[in-house]
Amino acid sequence: MGRAKKVVLAYSGGVDTSVCIPYLKNEWGVEEVITLAADLGQGEELGPIQKKALTAGASVSLVEDAMDSFVRDYAFPAIQANALYENRYPLSTALARPLIAKLLVEAAEKYGADAVAHGCTGKGNDQVRFDVSIAALNPNIKVLAPAREWGFDRPTAIEYGEKHGVPVPVKKSSPYSIDKNLLGRSVETGHLEDPWTEPLEEVYEMTKAIADTPDEPTYVEINFEKGIPVGLNGEAMDPVALVMKLNQLTGDNGVGRIDMLENRVVGIKSREIYEAPALLTLVHAHRDLESLTLTGDVTQYKRGIEESYGQMVYNGQWYSPLKSALDAFIVNTQEWVTGTVRVKLFKGNAVIVGRKSENSLYTEEMSTYGEEDQFDHKAAEGFIYIWGMSTRIWSGKHSS
Ligand code: ARG
Repeated sequence: MGRAKKVVLAYSGGVDTSVCIPYLKNEWGVEEVITLAADLGQGEELGPIQKKALTAGASVSLVEDAMDSFVRDYAFPAIQANALYENRYPLSTALARPLIAKLLVEAAEKYGADAVAHGCTGKGNDQVRFDVSIAALNPNIKVLAPAREWGFDRPTAIEYGEKHGVPVPVKKSSPYSIDKNLLGRSVETGHLEDPWTEPLEEVYEMTKAIADTPDEPTYVEINFEKGIPVGLNGEAMDPVALVMKLNQLTGDNGVGRIDMLENRVVGIKSREIYEAPALLTLVHAHRDLESLTLTGDVTQYKRGIEESYGQMVYNGQWYSPLKSALDAFIVNTQEWVTGTVRVKLFKGNAVIVGRKSENSLYTEEMSTYGEEDQFDHKAAEGFIYIWGMSTRIWSGKHSS
């Protein structure tokens, strides 16, 4: 008896996931492997990847264009939540995992598979995200993770693959581990493993070096409706087109690089280089529009929710009761977050230089220091008398 009869494998076309195909069949007694490759805007052609899976022994090789759902159903809610893990990482890789998990589970149900599989190793975050998301979506489906158990280093994996119909990679192997999609790139390993070492320029792809950016700023206006980005410079755009265009505008100005040490779910720290030019800019712009359209107490309370939300997305709890409850809160707050944010892109910075909204709570006649000031300054005295009451009582009791 094998570990499963029919398995749907998350497939990227890389060495590890390719080797998973013969490994599952030969070592773990799986009768049939169906692969699933999702297009999340990683910029790779899926036709050859689809063929490669069949050559390596897959019975069916599925390819799904999931870009629109990726942006609409995963990135946009995270933008509404201003989600930044540890205050910096906009979760460009993490957001893709619950979507891939959903596609795997749907395929498993459609093809009557009793398990799904992925090529994650045992010390990353992605295994956690896949396993927990899959369990949340269908607890009866088994999850197999060959790379967690096989103990292959890269040459051994290549050798094993070669013996079992997986072609030896033609490209020279990169010293980096890279995850890429429409929202960003995550790069680790190689010289980046020393947190003191500056990243080489070759690490970056979506963002230009400051030295190569234009000497004039680029301005872009981002239009939001109920907290969702709907257009650029007044022109309505569909989600994928908007992110692509904004990636280009921001990336060309060197915006969106993050060099950080983060705390992984499994307790270790890792150094990761991120590029997420559009996503990061959208979070900052959205947060700014909230500062114009939400009351102070909602903005401040929401910050705590945002922190928890970011942690939950990072920690693989996209599909969970607490996350749904947080979603309900966040969506409720977005009712009035409609308007436009003006961003100046220049030499690695995305600076917000203007914001406007039909729902603006900014009252010029109250805020101005000019002649038009309507604020009743005298009323402040009584307010402060009562506001400071408990402090005054306390001080009278305890100061000598
Ligand atoms: N640290 C990021 C996360 O957990 C990215 C993980 C994948 N990174 C990579 N370089 N392959 O979301």
